[in-house]
Parts: sequence; structure tokens; C-alpha cells
Amino acid sequence: MMPSTVDSALIAARNVSLVLGRPPASVEILRGVDLDVAAGDSVALLGPSGSGKSSLMAVLAGLERPTGGTVSVAGLDFTTLDEDALAVARRGRIGIVLQAFHLLPTMTALENVAVPLELAGEGDAFARAAAELEAVGLGHRIGHYPAQLSGGEQQRVAIARALVGRPALIFADEPTGNLDTTTGASIMDLLFARHAASGTTLFIITHDPGLAARCARVIELGDGRIVGDRRSA
Ligand SMILES: Nc1ncnc2c1ncn2[C@@H]1O[C@H](COP(=O)(O)OP(=O)(O)O)[C@@H](O)[C@H]1O
Ligand SMILES: [Mg+2]
Repeated sequence: MMPSTVDSALIAARNVSLVLGRPPASVEILRGVDLDVAAGDSVALLGPSGSGKSSLMAVLAGLERPTGGTVSVAGLDFTTLDEDALAVARRGRIGIVLQAFHLLPTMTALENVAVPLELAGEGDAFARAAAELEAVGLGHRIGHYPAQLSGGEQQRVAIARALVGRPALIFADEPTGNLDTTTGASIMDLLFARHAASGTTLFIITHDPGLAARCARVIELGDGRIVGDRRSA
């Protein structure tokens, strides 16, 4: 089944290429990716290691500039924005969760979650961060530092930080890769609960077939190209 049209697409990528390094050592990472993702969808991105999944996510999330082609999110053409404008564009639109949790070690859970709101200049950052930590089941850990938390707890903090700005779009790159199966499943429950409650669009890179099966659409990447795109029944 073909994905939605450009008009209703939250993400629209056109002929996206990514070349890293300088000739003669340059490597073609993405090779002409065309992709629309509809608002409110849940998408799993599968593919062998090295196929370009993380690179594609970085480009779609506005973290990395494509070498060619265009990327727009919510009608905003990322390829025309400078770094500052990109950072502002991501804020409040896009939440990102990575396999390594990337929490700031010198900040408590509460401070880590409040960071994106403080950067956005929002006044009630700590109250909202506390509420978000409560929502991911960490209300009793808000004063703890990352080193005092288990891996699953750290990933919950990272998810609270990704969700706190109420983004329309969440990118997750192998979010359960460092967690045991049970912990990983409960982490994913948090993202799918937000998807169900608020229509948050999910874009999840995973190797886990069970996790991919929870998504409505499964895209497969091979050697920098989309080689599969299907909807689950
Ligand atoms: N900075 C870089 N310079 C050169 N090659 C890179 C760089 N980053 C990643 N790559 C290469 O790009 C390819 C795709 O990487 P990646 O997007 O991380 O794939 P995946 O997430 O599917 O494992 C890999 O072959 C990787 O070695
Ligand atoms: Mg990767």
C-alpha cells in the first residue's frame, strides 16, 4: 500500500542522499530516499546494521543535513534552515530517544527532563518535568542522578525528556537495545500509550520483530535505499 500524499504528510523526504567523508574515501550512506510519513502513524524502520537507519533518522530529525534532496517536517523545509533555526524547529515538534540514554550525568532526573523546556524559555519547566516523570513511573526518583538509576529507569528519564515538550513526532533509535526484554516492553508501552492518547507520530528503529509488529507501518532499508514498505493487517 502506498503511503499518504505530500499534503497530509508530517514528514516528507524527497530524493534524499547523504555522502560522508571526502573523496576518494567518501561513502554514500543514503541513496535517493523518498518517504512520506502521515501524522499519527507508527512506523518501524528495519534493516541490517550499516544500512543507514540511524543516518536516515538523523536527517529526518534535522540533526544531520542531507547532501542532496529535501526534508520537510510539518510543512517546514529543514534544508533551508540554518543551525539555530533548526534547533528551534526541532524544539516542541520532535522528541528523540536513543539507545544510549545520553542523560547529563551532573543533573538529576528532574533537571534532565526540564532542560528542553528551559531551553524553550518556558516558565513552568520543573512542574511539567515532575509531572512527566510521574507519568513514566519515576515520580519517586526525580532527585536521583543517572548513575543512581537502573538502565530501564534511565531510559524512562530519556523518554520523559523526549515527551515533555509534547512533540508531534517521536524518533527512537533502538530504544530498547540496552534493556532486557521485559524492561524494554514496558518502555515501549510508554511510547505507544502516548501515541494512542495524543496521536503522537512514532518513528522507531528496531531489530526486534515483536516491536516492529506493534507499528502500523514497517519500512525496510537496505544499503541506503528503501527496499520494503508495508502496512500491517
Ligand atoms: N561519520 C561517518 N563517516 C563515514 N561513514 C559513516 C559515518 N557514520 C556512519 N557511517 C557509515 O554509514 C553507514 C550507515 O550507518 P548507520 O546509519 O549508522 O547505519 P545503521 O543505523 O543502519 O546501522 C555505515 O556503513 C557506517 O559505517
Ligand atoms: Mg543505527
